[in-house]
Amino acid sequence: MASLTVRKLDEVLKDRLRLRAARNGRSVEDEVRIILRDAAEAPTAAPPPPATTTTTPRWPQTGPAITRPRVTLIIGGGIAAYKALDLIRRLKERGLHVRCVMTRAAQQFVTPLTAGALADERCYTDLFDPQSEFDAGHIRLARDTDLIVVAPATADLMAKMAQGHADDLATAILLATNRPVLVAPAMNPAMWSNAATRRNVAQLARDGVAFVGPNAGEMAEANEAGVGRMAEPVEIATAAEAILRPPQSRPLAGRRILITAGPTHEPIDPVRYIANRSSGKQGFAIAAAAAAAGAEVTLIAGPVDLDEPPGVHVVHVESARDMLAAVEAALPADVAIFAAAVADWRVAQAGAQKIKKTASGMPPLALVENPDILATVSRLAENRPSLVIGFAAETENLIGNATAKLHRKGCDWIVANDVSPASGVMGGDRNTVHLLTAARDGKGDPAIDSWPVMTKDDVAGALVAKIAERMGQTNA
Ligand SMILES: Cc1cc2nc3c(=O)[nH]c(=O)nc-3n(C[C@H](O)[C@H](O)[C@H](O)COP(=O)(O)O)c2cc1C
Repeated sequence: MASLTVRKLDEVLKDRLRLRAARNGRSVEDEVRIILRDAAEAPTAAPPPPATTTTTPRWPQTGPAITRPRVTLIIGGGIAAYKALDLIRRLKERGLHVRCVMTRAAQQFVTPLTAGALADERCYTDLFDPQSEFDAGHIRLARDTDLIVVAPATADLMAKMAQGHADDLATAILLATNRPVLVAPAMNPAMWSNAATRRNVAQLARDGVAFVGPNAGEMAEANEAGVGRMAEPVEIATAAEAILRPPQSRPLAGRRILITAGPTHEPIDPVRYIANRSSGKQGFAIAAAAAAAGAEVTLIAGPVDLDEPPGVHVVHVESARDMLAAVEAALPADVAIFAAAVADWRVAQAGAQKIKKTASGMPPLALVENPDILATVSRLAENRPSLVIGFAAETENLIGNATAKLHRKGCDWIVANDVSPASGVMGGDRNTVHLLTAARDGKGDPAIDSWPVMTKDDVAGALVAKIAERMGQTNA
């Protein structure tokens, strides 16, 4: 009832705002800015909004843009401008508010309409736009942000920045801003290595501008390769987030974490397989929480129907053997968390063709044991992560079985959970877990920490906090 009333009120206020904007011949967005500016300047300013308490370090992806960190994305006129469109999405999925500005040359590559539609806000292009300059829009745009990202930063745009030009909206904003600036250069390797560009890059670095990339690789031009490719949108978004988020909310910064999640599918023939009911939700939630804590996360996922967590490198696999190969390829790591429900057995001889029904009845399916990924990594002589965490999904004798598993596998911690059908854990959103920590000698009774029923996101947050604590100790 209360939320209905709030929704109604929200609609009425939005309608009034649209009417007021239309009456004044302004966009809704400009109208909001003026209202907020007037409110800020009024002698009897409105009381500050109530403090919000958040349990997760990430910003909500929805809600008023004003409460979220704001990024102004300046798109330069290079071939990589199309990647800036993906960057808008990557920044938004991290809960950042994105406003786009395009240079004239950028509009030869992508349209302001597309950038505006993706950002949910008009894209600014013109220094002499009467609509936004009625209140010195370029100064407002330069200040009304928490970070300016320039991507792609062309050689020309960087030259103008280094020289302090301000003959278009993008350069005027860059000259007028007192906010951090992150630049993602993108150009042909010859342009990048040219002495003029070298000088400009050095000058910008001295001026306090941060850089991400460029990377080495193939160029858009045929037969051209070298350093000059724009950093990938995920890398740029991660760099932007690192600037925006205070270090204390990134206790796992600089740590590499490897996580497995989901079931495995073990083929019987090309169309059938052995599987289990794991949804992958818990492992994905841990990956998201670890990335939010600043870790560099590789998530090796069996077949699941989940969105990839932002800022996480995801490797998709099918079978237990694929998963082990992907895990080995992802090492070394500081922490490995094995949350996947790996099939214990596979069919010894999977059919090359679909197995047909015959009069002689069901064909015998001989099973062989799959590799034990947790035990393999726990017992590595070289490259063993300093913290190896397994999961024990049990339907009976939870603590007893989990303790036996901890000893058998040689891992450091076991997260034990009851997955009996009555618990609703498999595929559900909640989990009740016990964290078993191996005794120092690896043989004695483990310490057991029993957590209350929590959402899988909260379990992930709590586990990541424990990991950060432990890694902080080993760091000391
Ligand atoms: C097809 C094409 C692709 C281009 N790609 C790049 C590029 O990747 N990097 C670059 O620095 N300049 C590139 N240029 C040159 C820029 O478009 C030109 O220097 C422009 O003035 C840059 O404008 P800006 O300062 O608004 O970014 C390209 C030009 C063309 C015609």
